Amino acid sequence: MKRITIAQATEFTSPNPLTLICTNKPDGSTNLAPVSFVSYLAFEPPMIGFAMGKTAYTGDCIRQTGQAVITVPGKDTAEHVIPCGASTGRNIDKVKTLNIHLEKLPDCAIKIPAGSKLAFVVKLNQTVEVGDHYLYICDIEDIYGNENTEALFAWNGYAKVAPAQEK
Ligand SMILES: Cc1cc2nc3c(=O)[nH]c(=O)nc-3n(C[C@H](O)[C@H](O)[C@H](O)COP(=O)(O)O)c2cc1C
Repeated sequence: MKRITIAQATEFTSPNPLTLICTNKPDGSTNLAPVSFVSYLAFEPPMIGFAMGKTAYTGDCIRQTGQAVITVPGKDTAEHVIPCGASTGRNIDKVKTLNIHLEKLPDCAIKIPAGSKLAFVVKLNQTVEVGDHYLYICDIEDIYGNENTEALFAWNGYAKVAPAQEK
């Protein structure tokens, strides 16, 4: 074995999990950001967590509203993931700029990209400072799944987005 960096390690673990974190901005519009630093945390009560760089606008939104929907993008959403990660919702409306079609979940104020594989409706439980990131520890309130689409993963570290098995 040879000594490697954490960035190289993320290439060794590819494909890595991929989510699009959906939050509401103060004007009620939806912000979307791809996040791979995500994990289930507990079954009972169901909990999930994700880590984001301290300057991410998604962090501002979830800390302000206490709410998010963590989606796993479906195959049809593939083209939008990398562009969503290349800009910040602090400056632009990504949904409008990239022409992303959204859908509504029952009893949820936050819209999600149409064609998502999974959606976790979450409430922020705790924010923990971890180095240059914040870890957002969340309670899962509802989970919605779609059997008819393939989940997307992050490949080559985080450079490419594709299903786990190309068919
Ligand atoms: C495939 C992929 C995975 C990413 N994973 C993370 C992550 O786990 N944590 C993070 O802070 N940023 C991650 N990013 C970068 C954010 O999506 C990016 O900083 C984004 O602009 C944040 O948007 P916001 O400022 O609107 O929240 C990832 C980007 C891509 C393309």
